[in-house]
Amino acid sequence: MTTVKLDKVSKLYPATSRAGGLTPALRKVSFELAPGEVISLIGESGSGKTTIGKILLRLVQPTSGSVSFDGKNIASYSPRGLREYYRQVQGVFQDPFSSYNPIYRVDRVFDMVRSVYFRSVDDRDWSAKIEQALDAVSLNPGDVLGKYPHQLSGGQQQRLLIARALLLDVKVLIADEIISMLDASTRVDVLNLLVKLKRQGLAILFITHDLSLGNYVSDRTVILRHGAIVEMGDTAKIFGNPQHDYTKMLLSAVPELRKKWQHTPLGPVAASANGQAANGHGATGHGAKGHAAGGAVVDTVEAGADAAAATALAHASLLDELTHAEQVVKRDFRAVFGGTRAVASGRSQVAVALEPPVLHEFEPGHLVAEPE
Ligand SMILES: Nc1ncnc2c1ncn2[C@@H]1O[C@H](COP(=O)(O)OP(=O)(O)OP(=O)(O)O)[C@@H](O)[C@H]1O
Ligand SMILES: [Mg+2]
Repeated sequence: MTTVKLDKVSKLYPATSRAGGLTPALRKVSFELAPGEVISLIGESGSGKTTIGKILLRLVQPTSGSVSFDGKNIASYSPRGLREYYRQVQGVFQDPFSSYNPIYRVDRVFDMVRSVYFRSVDDRDWSAKIEQALDAVSLNPGDVLGKYPHQLSGGQQQRLLIARALLLDVKVLIADEIISMLDASTRVDVLNLLVKLKRQGLAILFITHDLSLGNYVSDRTVILRHGAIVEMGDTAKIFGNPQHDYTKMLLSAVPELRKKWQHTPLGPVAASANGQAANGHGATGHGAKGHAAGGAVVDTVEAGADAAAATALAHASLLDELTHAEQVVKRDFRAVFGGTRAVASGRSQVAVALEPPVLHEFEPGHLVAEPE
């Protein structure tokens, strides 16, 4: 049974360059994530990886295309449906420290889950539940509970966030660069934890720059370039016999993977039918992060207060969850009272640029795109 399915998902953002226009952050991306499956999502900075994660978490709306969860379009959820969705689909993001508010004890991340999902659970049962979740991520309650974020290591912080997801009935975990900021030994711990969770049936979208980590942990691999899939299939086949030039180039850079990508970009993608080039992709690593909460695009989510709080919970990479919850509420107000839909106006103009390269089956379980 399919857990999560992206069907021709595209996302346009207003370009950050002065020339204006639109950035096609995603171009008709389609793939499925099954229960117990780990998919690595790999691509250079700006290729659209985080945008996919945010769309799956309904923090960003696709410009076109759809995401379904067990056959139901996630855009169609009622507030209650959305809350249930977040019970099963959770995200953990790159910088663990930024997911905590430094002035509160780390336990607060659990309290927030309780206030949305477990109001009727009494203190004793709640403590038992937390201990169970901490045990699953090999944390000792005495080492972490009651502490402030700066008193925990990066690995402890990251595992605590995974434990928070496990408090819920999580079926799908979006793990966006979750180990890139950890030291080598902690990385192995967190990776092994993911493998253990996978064995228990959790589906994981493992977003990474690091091909060797992707190879270690995943069943299938999706290679993204300029917002489009260029190669996709069984990890062993892609790593063993890469076909697309871009995949080959990424693999040839493996010895230098500890560095940020620094190669020359493969060339711009036209952003409009009249041939104007879009910017904002590039391999420079700029501008790709931190857009979602305060960015120029207004994404509408029709949800009630609980769902808004659940949305805030789902977005674990923000310094202050309360601030983010406020932003979500404001965003919902704009949705109700008529806000900007910046993207919609330019949709037809960029139809050509959105067309991704065609994928062909190179061998069973291995798709490769035509050169662009
Ligand atoms: N809110 C936003 N407003 C405008 N442009 C955005 C916004 N969010 C992302 N983008 C642009 O969309 C493209 C894809 O960004 P995304 O963050 O998904 O890339 P990424 O693959 O996760 O990169 P990184 O590896 O650096 O995290 C980039 O060109 C980025 O600048
Ligand atoms: Mg990213």
